[in-house]
Amino acid sequence: MDEYRLVRLKNGTYSVHSVAHGETFHPVVGPVIEAEALYVQQLCLPARIAANADRFVIWDVGLGAAANVLTVLRAARHIPATVQIVSFDCTLEPLKFAIQNADCLKYLSGYESHLANLTVGQSAHFRNDRLQVDWTIHHCDFPALLEDSLEISLPVPHAILFDAFSPAKNPAMWSYSVFSRLFQRLRPNIPCALATYSRSTLLRVTLLLAGFFVGSGRATGEKEETTIAANARELIESPLDRSWLKRARNSTSAEPLWDASYRQERLSEKTLERLLSHPQFL
Ligand SMILES: C[S@@+](CC[C@H](N)C(=O)[O-])C[C@H]1O[C@@H](n2cnc3c(N)ncnc32)[C@H](O)[C@@H]1O
Repeated sequence: MDEYRLVRLKNGTYSVHSVAHGETFHPVVGPVIEAEALYVQQLCLPARIAANADRFVIWDVGLGAAANVLTVLRAARHIPATVQIVSFDCTLEPLKFAIQNADCLKYLSGYESHLANLTVGQSAHFRNDRLQVDWTIHHCDFPALLEDSLEISLPVPHAILFDAFSPAKNPAMWSYSVFSRLFQRLRPNIPCALATYSRSTLLRVTLLLAGFFVGSGRATGEKEETTIAANARELIESPLDRSWLKRARNSTSAEPLWDASYRQERLSEKTLERLLSHPQFL
């Protein structure tokens, strides 16, 4: 059986579907509209890239079929700056599948040769109009890479596009240790914001405990709310407040995933104590 197939969405665009995970990469509004709202606009990428023109580093966690990165590159192509993209994925098959189906996946248009280079050498350097792009792929298990590794040198990110499969299907990517190690990679003098499509209480609690400030993220057309997290409070438009904390206390699915298995549990006393002492709520 094929591992990936194309799904035609109601608005006529196509998205990639993983048969093994039973999940469509960008299921409702399609790859471009979702990536524009969730990452380009919400993370203010054009303005932040222009303000860090020497080198703006983006971590793309879950490269998949490259829709998120290509949407960012298209939106930023008029900016005279250098963007370093660091993509992570445990498989390059969705990217190869996307290249083979570029006639339906229109967002690939114009980038086919760079993507082909990426699948071969795992890096590509090219000019995208006025934007210089240095793009590297880490073909790896992302949690294992973070665990391995202060020795593995990765550039410190200014922005993170976090796009794994859902926590229920892909729990290893949403565990406390992943976000805690991710946070440890950041530097206080380099403001960094992460966006992701999930708005689950479990995820937000995990991000807070890992050290991030966390806010409710904008609607994407698919979801009425998403999540944004950052190491700098000023990068968050609508920080979670004490009324969210109250709802979290009542939620039946709020305790972080302490390991790589999915389960739903109420907040433990210990977790609640840690949340109450987070600078965001003091
Ligand atoms: C929803 S898809 C990403 C879609 C992609 N961002 C795009 O724009 O097309 C999720 C991706 O996460 C990757 N993934 C899942 N588990 C992973 C792991 N443990 N390490 C690295 N990547 C993983 C999958 O292989 C898949 O490509």
